Amino acid sequence: MTLPKDMAYVKLDGFGGPEVLRPDRTSLPEPKEGEILVQVAAAGVNRPDVQQRLGQYNPPPGASPIPGLEIAGKVIATGAGASQFSVGDEVCALVAGGGYAEFCVAPEVQALPVPKGLSMIEAAGVPETFFTVWTNVFDRGRLKSGETLLVHGGSSGIGTTAIQLAKAFDARVFATAGNAEKCDACLELGAEAAINYRQEDFVDRIKKLTDGEGVDVILDMVGGDYVLRNLNALAIEGRLVQIAWLGGPKVSGDFMKLLTRRLTWTGSTLRPRSVAEKAEIAASLRAKVWPLLERGEVKPIIHKTFPLAEAAEAHRLMESSTHIGKIILLTAA
Ligand SMILES: NC(=O)c1ccc[n+]([C@@H]2O[C@H](COP(=O)([O-])OP(=O)(O)OC[C@H]3O[C@@H](n4cnc5c(N)ncnc54)[C@H](OP(=O)(O)O)[C@@H]3O)[C@@H](O)[C@H]2O)c1
Repeated sequence: MTLPKDMAYVKLDGFGGPEVLRPDRTSLPEPKEGEILVQVAAAGVNRPDVQQRLGQYNPPPGASPIPGLEIAGKVIATGAGASQFSVGDEVCALVAGGGYAEFCVAPEVQALPVPKGLSMIEAAGVPETFFTVWTNVFDRGRLKSGETLLVHGGSSGIGTTAIQLAKAFDARVFATAGNAEKCDACLELGAEAAINYRQEDFVDRIKKLTDGEGVDVILDMVGGDYVLRNLNALAIEGRLVQIAWLGGPKVSGDFMKLLTRRLTWTGSTLRPRSVAEKAEIAASLRAKVWPLLERGEVKPIIHKTFPLAEAAEAHRLMESSTHIGKIILLTAA
C-alpha cells in the first residue's frame, strides 16, 4: 500500500469540555525501532482520555499528544527490528497515545493478534481494559480461583471486563453500579450479586453475601469516602486495588483495620509503565486470556460506536455515564 501524505486525526485543541476535541489533519507517525505502523480501523474511548482532555492526565514523555490508548487495525509498515508481525496482519494494541487517528504507531510487544471471531470494533475495545484488569486484579490483587472479588463501577469498560475475567478464573464476583439497568448488566456478565449503591450500603450487603467475612479483593475506581468503607468490606488478608479517584483522592479517618486485619492497599496506573512491563502483561494476556476471548467465554461489551470525527460526542456520552461497556471510534478504513 502506498501511504497517504497525511491523515485524519482528533486534535486536543487546549484543555476543557468535549468541544476541544477537533477533527484535523496531520502527517503520519513513523514507526521507530521495534514499532509497527497500524492503519486504524477502530479506537477505544476510555475515561483516562476524558481526564487527559481536562488537563488532568498528561501523556508520559515521548508519547503522542493525540488522545487514544487502544486501537485495532492492519499493520502497514514495520520499524527496524520489529519482526513479530508482518504487513497485512490484523492486530489490536495498547498505545500510550495517538489512537484517535487513521494511523498510529505501537511498540510491537504491546500488540496482539485480533482474537479469532472478534470484529475490529470489538478488538479495539480489548487492550486498555484487559491490560488494566489483568495487572491490577490478578497481578497486584493476586485474585485466585475460589476467592471473592468486589468490582466497583461494574458496568464501566473496566468493570465489564473485570467481572467476566474474574468469573472465567472461577472467582465469585460482586459488583456495584448506579442504576437497575447497570446492575442487570453486571448479573448477565456473571456477577453473583449486583449492588445499586444509590439504594443500598455495599458494605452491609457484602458482609451478608460473605457470611460476615468480607471479600478477598476489591477493584476500586472511586476512592474518596469509599476507601474506609472498602477496608470494612475486606476479609482478613484482603487486598484493595485502587485504579482511579472518581470520588476524589483525599481521605481521612481511622485506618486501624489495615493492621488488625492484615490488609493490603495498593494501586497503579498503566500508561506511564515501561514498554517492557506492558510487554509482560501482553504475554500473560496472550497465554491466559486470548484463548478465552477466542472461545467466546469473555468478550468486550460494546455500547456504541461513533465516527472518528465525532470524538466530542463520544466523550459527552462517556461523561453522561449512561453507557454500559465500551465506546468506540471508527475510521473510514
Ligand atoms: N489505573 C489505571 O491503569 C486505569 C486504566 C484505565 C482506566 N482507569 C480508570 O478506571 C475507571 C473506569 O474507566 P472506564 O474507561 O471503564 O470508564 P467508564 O466506562 O466511563 O466508567 C466509569 C464508571 O464509574 C462510575 N462512577 C462511580 N463514581 C463515579 C463518579 N464520581 N464520577 C463518574 N463516574 C463514576 C460510573 O458508573 P455508575 O453509574 O455505576 O456510577 C461510570 O460508568 C476510570 O476512572 C479510569 O480512569 C484506570
